[in-house]
Amino acid sequence: MEAVGDGIPDHADSTGVYRFRRSDWWTSGFYPGMLWIFYDMTKDECYKTTAWQRDVEMEPWLLHPEGGMNHDVGFQFLPTAVIKHTLTGDEEARRRGLAAANYLAARFNPAGGFLRAWNQGPDGQPVAGWAIIDCLMNLPLLFWAGRQTGDPRYAQIAVRHADTFLQYGMREDGSVSHILSFDPSTGAFLESLGGQGFAADSAWSRGAAWALYGFLLAYKNTGDPRYLEASRRAADFFLSHLPEDGVPYWDFRLPSLQGEPRDSSAAAIAASGLLDLAEAAPAAQQKTYQDAAEWMLQSLTENYAVWDRPGFGPILTGATGNRPLGHHVDCSLIFGDYYYVEAMAKAEGWKNRIFG
Ligand code: GLY
Repeated sequence: MEAVGDGIPDHADSTGVYRFRRSDWWTSGFYPGMLWIFYDMTKDECYKTTAWQRDVEMEPWLLHPEGGMNHDVGFQFLPTAVIKHTLTGDEEARRRGLAAANYLAARFNPAGGFLRAWNQGPDGQPVAGWAIIDCLMNLPLLFWAGRQTGDPRYAQIAVRHADTFLQYGMREDGSVSHILSFDPSTGAFLESLGGQGFAADSAWSRGAAWALYGFLLAYKNTGDPRYLEASRRAADFFLSHLPEDGVPYWDFRLPSLQGEPRDSSAAAIAASGLLDLAEAAPAAQQKTYQDAAEWMLQSLTENYAVWDRPGFGPILTGATGNRPLGHHVDCSLIFGDYYYVEAMAKAEGWKNRIFG
C-alpha cells in the first residue's frame, strides 16, 4: 500500500516496480479487490479506507465515450463497488454497481446474442461484432444487478451471452478461442479469431482459465447444469495440458515451446476457479479439482512468487499479457496477483465471493 499510494497498479517488469494505468483501464479493480478481501478477512480498517475511493474514481468514465471502458466493467466494478456494498452497505456503491451493469447491458447485441467486447480492435479496426471469452467473468455484474433490482432482463442478457459462447466458443475437446466475430447487423456468426492466443485454432491458456471460471459463475448464478458441464470440460482440458510444474505456457497449442514464456496469471485464475468448481462438481470429481488447485497454488508459491526482495511490489512473476503483440511478456500482472490472493483466501476459508 505504501508503494502504490493512489496509483492504479497494472504490471511490473523484473525490477518489481509497478507501472500504473488510468482508472478506466480494465485492470483498475484488481488492487482494490485484494484490499477488500484483506478487509473482509481481517476487519482491519486500513484496507477499507485505502480501497474506499476506487469505485468513486472510476464512475465518471461510464459517461465518457472517448474513455477506455468497455465490457470489462465487470472486472472493474465487482471488486470495488459491488463488494464494497456487500461488505459495508454503502448505497452509493450500490448505485455505481448498477450504473456499471446498465453500461454493460447496453453493449448487448440482440441479433447475435452477445455482449460487444471492445470499442476498437488492436489495429484500430471496427469491432462492433466481436465478443470475447473473458466476458464470461463480467456476467456476474448482470446477475447481481438482476437480484438487486428484481428485473429479469439482466440475467436474460447474461444467459444469451453465455449460450452464444457455448454454441460457438467451446470446442469438442473443451478448449476455446479468444474472439468470436459476428455480423453486428444480422447477428450471423462469421469466424473465430486467435486474439491474444497463438492462432484461431490454438488454445490461449488464459482464455481457457476464463472459460473454466466464467462458465462456473454462470452455473452458480443460474443452476443450469450445461454451464457446470462446460466449466468441467474447460477444467479437464486445462489440467490435462499442463506442464510438470502446473503453470501453463501462454498457449496450449504452440508449435514449439522453445523460448516461449509461461503465463502464471492463467494458473492463478484457474486455481481460484477450480476451488469453487470443487464445491460445485459431482462428489466423485471434487477431490480432483481441489487437489489440482492446491498443486498449482503450491507451485506458484514456490516457483513464481517473490517473497524475499524488499521493494518488489508484485507477488507473482512469469505472467504474460499479450504475446502476439509483445505486450507484457514474462512479467508481473496485477490480475495474476489478484487471483492468487483470491484463491489463497478461499483456501483459508474466506466465504464471500467477488466474482459470484
Ligand atoms: N481480459 C484480458 C486479458 O485476459 O488479457
